[in-house]
Amino acid sequence: MTTSLSFPAGFVWGTATAAYQIEGAAAEDGRTPSIWDTFCSVPGNIVGGDTGAVACDHYHRLDEDLDLMAELQLPAYRFSVSWPRIIPDGSGPVNHAGLDFYDRLVDGLLRRSITPLLTLYHWDLPQSLQDAGGWLSRDTVERFAELADVVGRALGDRVQAFTTLNEPFCSAFLGYGTGIHAPGIADNGSALAAAHHLNLAHGRAVTALRAVVPSRATMSITLNLAQVAPASDSDADAAAARHVDDIANRVFLEPILRGRYPDRLVEETRHFSDWSFVRDGDLAAISVPIDVLGVNYYSPTKVAAASDARERIAGTHANGGPAHRNAVPSPWPGTDLAHPVALPGPYTDMGWAIDPDGLTRMLLGLHREYPEMPLVITENGAAYPDVPGPDGAVHDPDRIAYLGAHLAALHAAIAAGADVRGYYLWTLMDNFEWAWGFSKRFGIVYVDYAKLTRTPKDSALWYREVVRTNAVDVAAETVSAP
Ligand code: FCB
Repeated sequence: MTTSLSFPAGFVWGTATAAYQIEGAAAEDGRTPSIWDTFCSVPGNIVGGDTGAVACDHYHRLDEDLDLMAELQLPAYRFSVSWPRIIPDGSGPVNHAGLDFYDRLVDGLLRRSITPLLTLYHWDLPQSLQDAGGWLSRDTVERFAELADVVGRALGDRVQAFTTLNEPFCSAFLGYGTGIHAPGIADNGSALAAAHHLNLAHGRAVTALRAVVPSRATMSITLNLAQVAPASDSDADAAAARHVDDIANRVFLEPILRGRYPDRLVEETRHFSDWSFVRDGDLAAISVPIDVLGVNYYSPTKVAAASDARERIAGTHANGGPAHRNAVPSPWPGTDLAHPVALPGPYTDMGWAIDPDGLTRMLLGLHREYPEMPLVITENGAAYPDVPGPDGAVHDPDRIAYLGAHLAALHAAIAAGADVRGYYLWTLMDNFEWAWGFSKRFGIVYVDYAKLTRTPKDSALWYREVVRTNAVDVAAETVSAP
């Protein structure tokens, strides 16, 4: 027996992508290298030695991809702009050829009645800014505000929804803490400084955008929050979970939504950071009001207090890369206090445990703590090792099951009062999955990387039906009370 779960009228359905993961054309029309081009050039950083140099070749196949979205009747699309395409040196002259690509993308979306949601930064910092210190330098914050100004002026007449940063957790803690993401630095104190500068960059970008775009435009940031639970009911494990909540979640949520850093976080990180990077006025700049909070959800996290007796298993954290899987560094700076432990399966192809209830818990937790803030799911999806069948079709029942269960979990959160306005499925098409290269397929459209052809998977047709009916059909017994 199936049950049909309807979503509120006006609920926004879309898919999400990111510039470096799909565009390719890395050295064309004036684009300069980003930190990800540099990171990919180091042997051993990316599975298979893959790079985003060509990726899905979206830059050259824009019209085809727009037509694909129209064919799949996708009402909304979240994409990111490539900073080194628009301001190749990170500051200074604007590259009009680069900006023109996004101009055509936005016009092409609107012509097909697809609503754009623009991410300003999805991890691809211009290498020239990295050479000047990257997110450890306050100057990068000012450069980011300039980018916001340029993009707002160029596209703000047509784009009505902006998100500043995608997952600053990954930029700061995987980029500067564990070093498994670009720029590959492993230093706890640097990770915290980067997190603060990213927070400040968010606030300054919101202010810069508001100054140049029409007042109806909505502003947000996209966070990947750790939906964290302690491994046992011991006091030590509870403290470990609290620490991870502070360092993975509240380090962003509290300054952005409440204008403060939690005292406990500052205390627990004193041994590797004096927090001197926070200057007068920063918290006011960071907490400038936003309209909606974007959240990405893939899998929850379980943590235990660090102890030599326990095995360290790190592969369970969303977007931990391959180096992360067997390695000791924990994704949370200062986690001599806490480390991730394995969750029971089933798992996706990333090794991430499937737990749709985690999504319900996360949304209701946010709703409880920040009741005034509307939410949108800016990413959710699953990797599976898809292969085309003899008939050329790509049957992906596991992905459909994952998505159906997560939409039911989202529905349960809305039914229990969470104000969730939309859902962007990760991702439109298979693409460059960061440290995992092309080895992981998250798309609802299959990409043949040799021929660069696109084939909608069964999940794409399934999602089209969800969107058309504004409802998801799920097995009645899988619908759980929140
Ligand atoms: C998120 C990233 C996105 C993609 C998914 C699988 O952390 O924002 O680019 O890699 O994970």
